[in-house]
Amino acid sequence: MFTLVFAVIAAIILFERTIFNRKYKSIRNKHVVVTGGSSGIGKCVAKLAVRYGAHVTIIGRDCKKLDTAVEEIQKGCYMVGQKVQGVSLDVCDYELVKAEFSNLEEKVGPIYMLVNCAGLAICGKLENVSNEDIKTLLNTNFLGTVYPTKMVITKMKERKEGIVVITASQAALVGIYGLSIYSASKFALRGFAEALDMEMYPYNVSVTVALPPDTDTPGFEMENKTKPTETTLICGSGGIYKPEAVAQNLIEDALRGSFFSTVGCESYFTALLCVGMTRCTSLGELIAQVVLMGPLRVVGCIFLEYFYAIIRKCLYD
Ligand SMILES: *[C@@H]1O[C@H](CO)[C@@H](O)[C@H](O)[C@H]1NC(C)=O
Ligand SMILES: *[C@@H]1O[C@H](CO)[C@@H](O)[C@H](O)[C@H]1NC(C)=O
Ligand SMILES: *[C@@H]1O[C@H](CO)[C@@H](O)[C@H](O)[C@H]1NC(C)=O
Repeated sequence: MFTLVFAVIAAIILFERTIFNRKYKSIRNKHVVVTGGSSGIGKCVAKLAVRYGAHVTIIGRDCKKLDTAVEEIQKGCYMVGQKVQGVSLDVCDYELVKAEFSNLEEKVGPIYMLVNCAGLAICGKLENVSNEDIKTLLNTNFLGTVYPTKMVITKMKERKEGIVVITASQAALVGIYGLSIYSASKFALRGFAEALDMEMYPYNVSVTVALPPDTDTPGFEMENKTKPTETTLICGSGGIYKPEAVAQNLIEDALRGSFFSTVGCESYFTALLCVGMTRCTSLGELIAQVVLMGPLRVVGCIFLEYFYAIIRKCLYD
């Protein structure tokens, strides 16, 4: 019985994804801006965007890393006049963001798609995270997404087209031990994205929230060093994904206009369970949610029990 239900749902989702391909937006010859584009998921997104025929601007702070990334990304260009450039900029500084973004539109062209990938993770039990780090995390992850987004939406609304991608995390759906401030910053982004989607909807501008699981990036390596054992054990159950795979799903979901973008089973089912009042962007998804949410709540509770058991065990070891 369950197998049959699963098969039907899978078939509907597959059908939607393949038959309605025509609804995909195109970024060919369009200007795509990627913050945090000099490494990790951002760099992979930029490389893919170039392969889709876009003009790409990556934004990062470190000039050297930016130059190396631009060279690497340029190799993917295949059209005459296809442009790739890097802009060194701190996305948490509103005045700088404002100046650079208007400059960028003049030089390269109207921004059609903004992919916010700038972000970082600092782990630790709350009492072990310095106030300095708390501010850095909230500034980078939240304001570092809000400022660039604020700069592009007015023009997108005027042109009645555009795509905004916000990179959150699985931690935007579930609060996890050792990630209190990080989770808070990502939960904030989810709320921001839901409200923004409502504001942008009449203007033909779509908003997509990426919910990547642990991804094999320089950022993750850094984060790994500060992770409490409990966090490593709890997050370990999801496995670790390649940034290329995350970037591929992110771009496809954004072009399709999905609100959530997930990678892998765990991420998909967590998003399904935590969907709440998020706008439904596909019939297949809606059917899957209606049928699976009840049973998934039971599975979720079992996982949570397991997580709490890990925490108890670490305490007494
Ligand atoms: C975390 O904070 C507690 C209480 O301030 C302290 O005893 C402990 O040594 C700290 N642990 C680390 C890893 O900094
Ligand atoms: C919405 O934007 C897409 C490109 O992103 C465009 O092809 C389409 O014509 C637009 N629709 C309206 C109603 O403006
Ligand atoms: C993260 O750290 C754990 C041990 O703390 C180690 O086993 C694991 O390989 C590390 N992962 C990465 C990607 O560095």
